[in-house]
Amino acid sequence: MKMRLELFLVVAAAVCAAGKPLNTAGNKLLLISFDGFRWDYDQDVDTPNLDQLAEEGIKAKYVTPPMLTMTSPSHFTTITGRWVEDHEVIHNMMFNPKTNLKIPFRQTLKKSEWWDTGVQPLWITAQNQGLKTASFFYPGGGVTYNGQAVNRVIMRSINHKYANETEWRENIDKVMSWFSEEDFDLVTLYYGEPDNVGHRKGPDHPDRKTIIQQIDRTLGYLREAIARHQLSDSLNVIISSDHGMTTVKKKPQVNEIILNKYLNLFGAASFEILDYGGFGILTPKPGKEQEVYDALSKAPNVKVYKKEEIPEDFHLAKSKRLPPIVVVADLGYNLNSRLIVYVNRGDHGYHNGEMDMKTIFRAFGPDFKRNFVSEPFDSIHIYPLMCKLLQIEPAPHNGSLSVTENLLLHSGESDSVVCQ
Ligand SMILES: *[C@@H]1O[C@H](CO)[C@@H](O)[C@H](O)[C@H]1NC(C)=O
Ligand SMILES: *[C@@H]1O[C@H](CO)[C@@H](O)[C@H](O)[C@H]1NC(C)=O
Ligand SMILES: [Zn+2]
Repeated sequence: MKMRLELFLVVAAAVCAAGKPLNTAGNKLLLISFDGFRWDYDQDVDTPNLDQLAEEGIKAKYVTPPMLTMTSPSHFTTITGRWVEDHEVIHNMMFNPKTNLKIPFRQTLKKSEWWDTGVQPLWITAQNQGLKTASFFYPGGGVTYNGQAVNRVIMRSINHKYANETEWRENIDKVMSWFSEEDFDLVTLYYGEPDNVGHRKGPDHPDRKTIIQQIDRTLGYLREAIARHQLSDSLNVIISSDHGMTTVKKKPQVNEIILNKYLNLFGAASFEILDYGGFGILTPKPGKEQEVYDALSKAPNVKVYKKEEIPEDFHLAKSKRLPPIVVVADLGYNLNSRLIVYVNRGDHGYHNGEMDMKTIFRAFGPDFKRNFVSEPFDSIHIYPLMCKLLQIEPAPHNGSLSVTENLLLHSGESDSVVCQ
């Protein structure tokens, strides 16, 4: 603490002497995402390491992801600080209503044309300001932006298995050596759990608790690894996620939604993604927009939106990629087009105001307060916080540092330098 203050005074003197701020290096930053970690998953499981990290750092009560609450859109909001309508990664699937193209999530991870829509993610912004960055499995990290790639990228294989604890630790070791031996400044590290178990078994299944304990052990391993690599004083860590998870309602408890009962989809729509959990999109055939809207509005347990009437706080309406009609099922209901082929026991993609869609935020490291419980905030505000931690100039974004700055030990300090 004392050393940091002295360093600050030296830096402040240098700033004054030069007449403009020096580009003083920030600490290093590791952003970890555990996919589908609902905000309350640690409350019914013993999680000694998460508890300890809360004592040593920040724990937000919960975090609200952007609408829509899906993996690619939400991760890309975190790493760009832009709403989904701006960054245009509008689904986990890559699609094109004109050609009827549909490419599943894992294959999109190498498709620049899906991610590179003119918005600049943090890796690229940081690299352009002299930092060294890497992406380990993180969605959006494996493509190029305006021709520019992330300095180091490790991609999942298409059939990568998510829950191998040994591999999880190896990945941490690799990342730690990048920081300590190769002087990387920013690494984003992604884990596909607990999302995978949440989908297959449901959030209330005992296996979900088991995977949370595995994550907890992994975070204990991370703490040790940070110390082993002597990074405790120079590495900030943010632990985040993209959305929560809810139990899918099924027969005989509920009548499942089959949209073709209300609308002849073959006749009325030229494009659709309706068999993908609770969030559906479709393009009516020319002149059939009102007919489609009226018919689907009669289906129970769904909300239908014309694109131009989508609530402003969804931040979706301006998207060029989004088709004209959006269908959002009520929490836990699943959309089906014609047949029920759906097998998930848990899902997300529902309204981001639902508590089951809320997710986690933890942080620790030299720049974070200790033992600090933060009020809830929107995940969009993580981006300016990361820029502040790395001491880089953010790209245009929709977050606000004023929301997350209070997590920092020395918030506003550099602004308080008065040159005589
Ligand atoms: C888990 O990962 C380790 C290390 O990468 C590997 O040696 C092992 O075969 C994997 N286990 C399974 C079941 O895939
Ligand atoms: C989000 O940020 C971009 C870039 O600054 C801006 O063009 C856009 O209007 C912002 N969106 C909202 C809803 O403020
Ligand atoms: Zn996800």
